[in-house]
Parts: sequence; structure tokens; C-alpha cells
Amino acid sequence: MSEIRVLLWRVVTFVLCFVCVGCDFGRMYDQDAIKTYGEKMPEMDRRTVPVQDGFQELANADPGTLKNPLAYSRASVERGSQAYTYYCVQCHGARLDGNGTVGQSFAPLPADLVSDATLAQQDGALYAKVRLGFKRHPALFSTVPAEDAWAVIIYMRSLRGKS
Ligand code: HEC
Repeated sequence: MSEIRVLLWRVVTFVLCFVCVGCDFGRMYDQDAIKTYGEKMPEMDRRTVPVQDGFQELANADPGTLKNPLAYSRASVERGSQAYTYYCVQCHGARLDGNGTVGQSFAPLPADLVSDATLAQQDGALYAKVRLGFKRHPALFSTVPAEDAWAVIIYMRSLRGKS
């Protein structure tokens, strides 16, 4: 008999918990953050086309025709080095060999950016790979500004034979 009573209490406690949590849900639905999604989306003009700051032009371009607009100077190397530590080091690593903290989760590792195989490629080809993405590479078009990407390539070349 007492077992049934214990069971009953458990059921009552369980139901009470649900009622209390239910109140919280109520408060959640009252928030502006949720209401926003209930609003109707504005009508879009049917002639609207996506404009993505030159993404399509780059995607259509022949990488062989892309020229590095930056001079091979100390300033470019410094800019590239700084941009590298913002955008690339987590995958490609401090020694540019693909052994970054995130890079180590890739099998095989991300490319060694100072290897002969990589540096033999033209600036335009490397630039297109970085900003458009390829195979397992993320498209960094909207993350890395054009000049920073070009500067990183100059930085990579400045390290040839030094790693
Ligand atoms: C999320 C991780 C990640 C980030 C961030 C990243 N890369 Fe990569 N990168 C990779 C991987 C993975 C590969 C190899 C792609 C493959 O072959 O599948 C690669 C390959 C490359 C290659 C091709 C090398 C070759 O020999 O063809 C270049 C160039 C490159 N990365 C440059 C960069 C630069 C410059 C940055 C920063 C602006 C950057 N990557 C940021 C993961 C990353």
C-alpha cells in the first residue's frame, strides 16, 4: 500500500515540475527575439539579383589572368604575416605546414604552404583557391579581404626555404 503512495507522490511531483516548466515556456514565447520570426517576410522585387561584391566575377575568372596587385615589399610581407595569424594559422599552423590546432583534425593535414608544390603555383591560382575554396578548403571570400589574401601569398613566398 505504502508503495502505491510513494508512486503517487512521484507522479504528482513530476506533473508539478511540468506545470512549472510550462510557465517558463510561456515567458519565452513572449520575448521579442521569438516574435521576430513570426513576422511576415518583406516581399522581394522579382528582378532582384544577388550582388556579392565580385564573388561571381572571381568564380568566372581564369585564375591564370589574376595578377597580384601588391608589390613584393617588406610592407606586404608584414601585412601578410598579420593576416595569416588572423585567418590561416588555426589550420595551417605557425610553421605553415598544416599542423595548426584545427588543422590537426584534417586527415590528410591541410597543405604545407611553403612546400615546393604549393609555391610553384601562380599567385592567381593560390588566391582563387583561398577565396573561392576548393575540395576541403573553406571559401574565405567574405572572411578574408582581397588585399589580405594577396598579402598572405607574398608572405608565404617570403618564407620559401626557411621552414
Ligand atoms: C578551416 C581550415 C583552413 C583555413 C582557415 C585555411 N585553410 Fe588553407 N587549406 C585547408 C585545407 C584542408 C587544405 C587542403 C585542401 C584539400 O586539398 O582538400 C588547404 C589548402 C590550402 C592551399 C592550397 C595549397 C596547394 O598546394 O594547392 C592554399 C594556398 C591555402 N590553403 C591557403 C590558405 C590561406 C592563405 C588561408 C588564410 C587566408 C587558409 N588557407 C585558411 C584548410 C584551411
